[in-house]
Amino acid sequence: MSRQAANAAHPNRLVLLGGGRRAKREAGVVWLVGAGPGDPDLLTIRALKVLNTADVVVHDGLVSDEILSLAPQTARLISVAKRKARHTLPQDQINQLLIAFALEGLTVVRLKGGDPFIFGRGGEELQACRDAGVECRVVPGITAALAASASAGAPLTHRGAAQAVTFVTGHAAHDEPDLDWPALARANHTVVVYMGLTTSHLISARLIEAGRDAATPALVVLNASRADEQRFVTTLAGLPAATEGLKGPALLIVGEAMALAQASVPAEVDDLIRIASVSA
Ligand SMILES: C[S@@+](CC[C@H](N)C(=O)[O-])C[C@H]1O[C@@H](n2cnc3c(N)ncnc32)[C@H](O)[C@@H]1O
Repeated sequence: MSRQAANAAHPNRLVLLGGGRRAKREAGVVWLVGAGPGDPDLLTIRALKVLNTADVVVHDGLVSDEILSLAPQTARLISVAKRKARHTLPQDQINQLLIAFALEGLTVVRLKGGDPFIFGRGGEELQACRDAGVECRVVPGITAALAASASAGAPLTHRGAAQAVTFVTGHAAHDEPDLDWPALARANHTVVVYMGLTTSHLISARLIEAGRDAATPALVVLNASRADEQRFVTTLAGLPAATEGLKGPALLIVGEAMALAQASVPAEVDDLIRIASVSA
């Protein structure tokens, strides 16, 4: 049985803080580590070094198995991801878990997809550690937007086409995303939407209503940097059709510079990446 499977088979591990695997006297530390978008090659050297020191790794669902396999064999792996028929551990319980392990004197690596401070709730975990008097350090990671843009060969800023880039969340706490549509509708500006698959129709409609050209180039990238990455080249108006039925972590990127997005790559470059084009 793999370490992960073994951990998964023992959900009570979450409360077995006195499990006794190791008892240290000195204060522990919490590392908030960005694991990048999925491809282990996109992990930073510092992230790998810190991971190697872990007694406990508390990770999200977006952290790939390949990256988790780089943790020391002795480290305990704890998933706080959403699983079938289970909800994500509430954020305050995650905070308490990190603090409790650190107070036991353990080196805790809180491994998060992408960068911990980009839509990753890393700030809340940092604040909770500070409030508890627990040392907390941060290792940045490559955020999904950078991986998606690199894969597609479409820069997020581009002279004459994109003087600014804005990262927003498409997540709707209530009926629809609460965003500054007129600001996002400015031309020559790239808008990267995280967590926007299910609200893509609203995002497309609101941006067009706010004055963004419906023909503005757009790109959807699913599973950026992973072997099952898919890229869909479309337009702002075409976003709802391009995202229909897609499942998994995805970004919507809207902006004039997305005209450079590649809808295909030669098989010899990467025949694992399936490219699809969707017309508006
Ligand atoms: C909670 S946010 C975490 C973002 C992460 N901290 C980062 O910097 O990339 C999760 C969202 O990030 C985006 N995302 C994360 N990894 C991705 C990937 N490999 N490909 C495409 N989108 C990704 C998706 O929009 C997903 O719903």
